[in-house]
Amino acid sequence: MIKSRQLSRLGALLACVSAFAADPVRYLSDKKLFVLDTANATYVFGLNERNQLQHAYWGKKLWRDADLASVHSAAEWASFDGSASTTPGEYPGWGSNMYTEPCLKVTLADGNRDLVLTYVSHEIHGDTLVVVTKDIQYNLVVTLHYHVYPGVIEKHSVIENKTTQPVTVESAQAGVWYVPPGDGYRLSYLNGRWAGETQLVQEEIHPGVKVLESRRGTTSHQTNPWFAIDAPQGGGTYADQEHGRVWFGALGWSGSWKFSVEQTPHQQVRVTGGYNTFDFGYPLQPGEQLETPAFYGGFSDHGFGEASRMLHHFAREFILPGGVSAKPRPVLYNSWEATEFKVDEPGQKVLAEKAAKIGVERFVMDDGWFGARNDDHAGLGDWYVNPRKFPNGLQPLIQYVNGLGMDFGIWVEPEMVNPNSDLYRKHPDWAMNFPGRPRTEARHQLILNMARDDVKEYTFAWLDKLVSENNITFLKWDMNRNFSEPGWPEAGPANEKKIWVQYTRNVYEIIDRLRVKHPKLEIESCSGGGGRIDLGILKRVDEVWTSDNTEALDRLRIQEGFSYAYPAQAMMAWVTDVPNFNGRSTPLQFRFLVAMMGSLGIGNNLNKWTGEDFALATRMIAHYKSIRRTVQQGKLYRLFSPHEGELTANQYVSEDGKQSVLFAFLHSQQYGRPAPTIHLRGLDENGVYRITALDPNKLAEKLTTASGAFLQNHGLDVLLVGDYDSESILIERAE
Ligand code: GLA
Repeated sequence: MIKSRQLSRLGALLACVSAFAADPVRYLSDKKLFVLDTANATYVFGLNERNQLQHAYWGKKLWRDADLASVHSAAEWASFDGSASTTPGEYPGWGSNMYTEPCLKVTLADGNRDLVLTYVSHEIHGDTLVVVTKDIQYNLVVTLHYHVYPGVIEKHSVIENKTTQPVTVESAQAGVWYVPPGDGYRLSYLNGRWAGETQLVQEEIHPGVKVLESRRGTTSHQTNPWFAIDAPQGGGTYADQEHGRVWFGALGWSGSWKFSVEQTPHQQVRVTGGYNTFDFGYPLQPGEQLETPAFYGGFSDHGFGEASRMLHHFAREFILPGGVSAKPRPVLYNSWEATEFKVDEPGQKVLAEKAAKIGVERFVMDDGWFGARNDDHAGLGDWYVNPRKFPNGLQPLIQYVNGLGMDFGIWVEPEMVNPNSDLYRKHPDWAMNFPGRPRTEARHQLILNMARDDVKEYTFAWLDKLVSENNITFLKWDMNRNFSEPGWPEAGPANEKKIWVQYTRNVYEIIDRLRVKHPKLEIESCSGGGGRIDLGILKRVDEVWTSDNTEALDRLRIQEGFSYAYPAQAMMAWVTDVPNFNGRSTPLQFRFLVAMMGSLGIGNNLNKWTGEDFALATRMIAHYKSIRRTVQQGKLYRLFSPHEGELTANQYVSEDGKQSVLFAFLHSQQYGRPAPTIHLRGLDENGVYRITALDPNKLAEKLTTASGAFLQNHGLDVLLVGDYDSESILIERAE
């Protein structure tokens, strides 16, 4: 029997569902409000009495349009803080007496630098909204684009010069996100450096501006373009994995970028994001336009766990090639840590044979196969097979690898050139430079100016040839340094700064064209590890190299930070030899289980493995294949953080809820204390599950089946002892 309370809940739920299904984007003409609904959040902005767009609400889903009121610009606070600064503009141009971060700043040909954008028109098509705005005087048109996805809203803008004179754009932001006005919010972001990427930082937001950015020409190891803001709950505590309001956003751009996280004197808390304004100057001739990157935002009122799961699902469904039904990532072997530059046909064949035996599905030859590439001093740019190492070209190796049942992938670094290379001797002008000035080398290499069309076409041509002539199904696309002396003399002084945008666009174009021409080709984005990970590159690559640091304990933290923004499917994680970074040696099982929480790769020197190592690896890879869909495409629950204690535990639950897998790691036992009880999540409390531990003796309760209620409420005691102990437990729905 359905009770009336249940009926009314059902009614409310259906009202929400039908509002979303029928009308994710609405214009309430009587109130001049735009309402954008995701599955769980509502975003509202409107036209105020000045005909300017003004933010109204972003947060948990509202279902009653009648509750919403029209927007009115905020009053002046004093002669020092006028309405332009106290009003939360939806896409403010820099003009009037505005002192907060603008979304757009321009200089017009006549020297005018004042920009005031007002509404012109809008169009709604299903889940997209396009709003046209224009300066009050000049024909400078800014079109705001919104796309509503189930859990995320995308915004970007297009700036179009419809005047008869050139315009210089000095700041072009994708947009600004506001959380409800207030104090005491907390900011989360991902900070790092080479070999120490995606470290989660959480700090209170104070009045002023905190800038998160890359000025490096690429996404950077230093900061990743993702943020989250959570609100203090009752009693002053912040959101955790399961509770609390979290607003989050990520930028889809692999060039220099910037987030300005601001708390204004009037308690507006806002994040403006887009192209980095540093050294920015983008001239637009009459008729030309500039499109900003996309800025994605979402909201969760179930803490950081749900926020990440929303982003993971979004990235898998709408960003990564292949969509939600993409086949799981193959287990790969990569030669880098085993051989470094010492690759040759016989040596690679030996490794391939051993890799195939343990269950590897893709064999990747890393650096060293081309030109005079015997170390990192020479060869970059000379993309022909080294005849000494591969006298008969790549075919014999590829055929051998294919014969072993694996596909073949290869390392490339298309954007780089060593001064000691035939390419540089022939085209020294192709390297990014300011004429007559020093050219700063890093890892003995310079950057090819990919903004140039000739360099772009040359690069596409050799990559296309390499992939067309060989059965190569995977490229590891590397980029091992950041910009220096970012000159583009051929563009002329007025246009040189366009390099910050055009370089990245051309890299995107090359990848996009390659993928169209070679639909089976898969690509990994690597930039000395995790230097180019963002939703822009993820639209065109299948996975990313998380970090050059493959030391398993460090990896727990690097991977944890990564998981806040990006899905496990895209996170390449290798098992490698020890001692590794920090001089640390962890057991092979520990290294395997850490790597199995992402897309598994093997990077060991298999020539040094013992029979025992091979046996363990074979078992682990077989286990991984049985759970990888759940890990890569399921829901992640971070149960114990490596930042908080001696235990790290993560659980993955398949989309259909039938399979779950727990990974638990003890870093270092102290005082003989047992590892804390692990309470599982994401299960059906009324269900019964089969429990299979890698090592059944590690399960204190010696269970073979358990109810969801027991697993979630009583929890599992996993007997982890000593240093670097680890366990994986499979939980499968039985009833
Ligand atoms: C970068 C990558 C490594 C490896 C080397 C090769 O450092 O991150 O994985 O490919 O380049 O030179």
